[in-house]
Amino acid sequence: MTRIGVVGAGYVGTTAAACFAHLGHDVVCADVSEDRIRELRKGEVGILERSLPVLVTEGLESGRLVFEVGARRAAEGTAFVFLCLPTPSADGGAVDLSALEAAAREIGPVLEPDAVVVVKSTAPVGATRRVRRVLDADGAPPGVSVASNPEFLREGNSVEDFLHPDRIVIGCDEPETAVRLTGLYSGVPAPVVVTDPASAEMVKYASNAYLAGRVSFINAVANLCEAVGADVRDVALGMGYDPRIGSDFLHPGPGFGGSCLPKDTAALLHIAAEAGVDLPPVEATVAVNTRQRERVVEKILAALDRAPPGSPVAAWGLTFKANTDDLRDSPALDIVRALLARGVTVRAFDPVAGERAGGLEPGLDVTVDPYDACDGAAVLAVLTEWEQFRWLDFARVAELMAVPQVVDTRNLLDPPTMRRLGFDYQGVGR
Ligand code: UDX
Repeated sequence: MTRIGVVGAGYVGTTAAACFAHLGHDVVCADVSEDRIRELRKGEVGILERSLPVLVTEGLESGRLVFEVGARRAAEGTAFVFLCLPTPSADGGAVDLSALEAAAREIGPVLEPDAVVVVKSTAPVGATRRVRRVLDADGAPPGVSVASNPEFLREGNSVEDFLHPDRIVIGCDEPETAVRLTGLYSGVPAPVVVTDPASAEMVKYASNAYLAGRVSFINAVANLCEAVGADVRDVALGMGYDPRIGSDFLHPGPGFGGSCLPKDTAALLHIAAEAGVDLPPVEATVAVNTRQRERVVEKILAALDRAPPGSPVAAWGLTFKANTDDLRDSPALDIVRALLARGVTVRAFDPVAGERAGGLEPGLDVTVDPYDACDGAAVLAVLTEWEQFRWLDFARVAELMAVPQVVDTRNLLDPPTMRRLGFDYQGVGR
């Protein structure tokens, strides 16, 4: 059992803190927000992550997990301090490291003599060394070491991904630091890749850029399938049996969103530009992703042209993907905003984030019932792949709609069934 500090109680920090406590360590999780800490002390997690509330409650009840206000509290008496802070996009794709550096400055003077400061936030190549310089400048004990330990958590699946990762990546200059850090994960069955900080940071960016590239690749193929009369789902199925390709991350949609892939692809392009290196595959990934949202808007507008002027659009799903409450960089919201900007009336339903989305988009009419959203609508746009959408009563939806047209951006629904019910069905790539 080791005393671990975690700075930042967001998606990554709360998950890391609760999971390390679950693994038997003593964890202090600190955040700058008194409100957030107050909620977490009551076991209220505030984000939609299955099984995270259970682990937080387990940690609180066992006494192995405590929540404190202020980064220093995560550094006092702890052997490891994980920095899990936001690293948002800045201008031109650069990454804003101010929160990371501020935390390093705050904890430097109170670190244990041989503490390990671990950068878990997604941070550009060179960030870990920057944290080292900040700590040195702020009087951290000379025995303190730093390491990069990037997270590979998928929102909505973060606990599973933390406790059962495909790999653990550690980037540090001192072999003994790598050994100590690896020891923290002794209860986690996964291969450990030990390298230098820059390479560890690059693993994270290159992985996310590759994943984003797969999404844009299959979206581009889907668009071609539409033009030549092929079905992209069968194409992806046929591709996926090749073990070098696999079937994951080959589902076409409205484009990738969320707080990671868009930010990380932009950051990698910025890193490349700073280094004077071209990165055409990532440039194409981003270009296809931007265009994909526009293509969905064009499909919806074309369907509206086949309806009485002023007909409303029903939108199902506003978050960046299903099984999350995260609206950050959501393609669904981008599409809804583009429609609103053209004067289109949009009535939206989202299973978990409708009210928050309504607050973000004053012009957006949000309802708590998916059928209400369809009342009088000329187009139903399915924008996220919530399983519950699949089982709604589409005969009732057809009756409610002024014109039964559906733009299924996730290929969630069955085209023959929808067409038998009288819908004009459009998917993506089929
Ligand atoms: C991603 C990476 O998967 C994860 O490893 C990393 O740590 C953080 O970024 P996340 O952003 O939570 O995780 O979501 P993910 O499930 O990867 O989806 C990202 C976006 O791609 C979503 O908008 C999703 O809808 C889209 N997507 C994903 C597709 O359009 N098609 C796919 O086949 C897969």
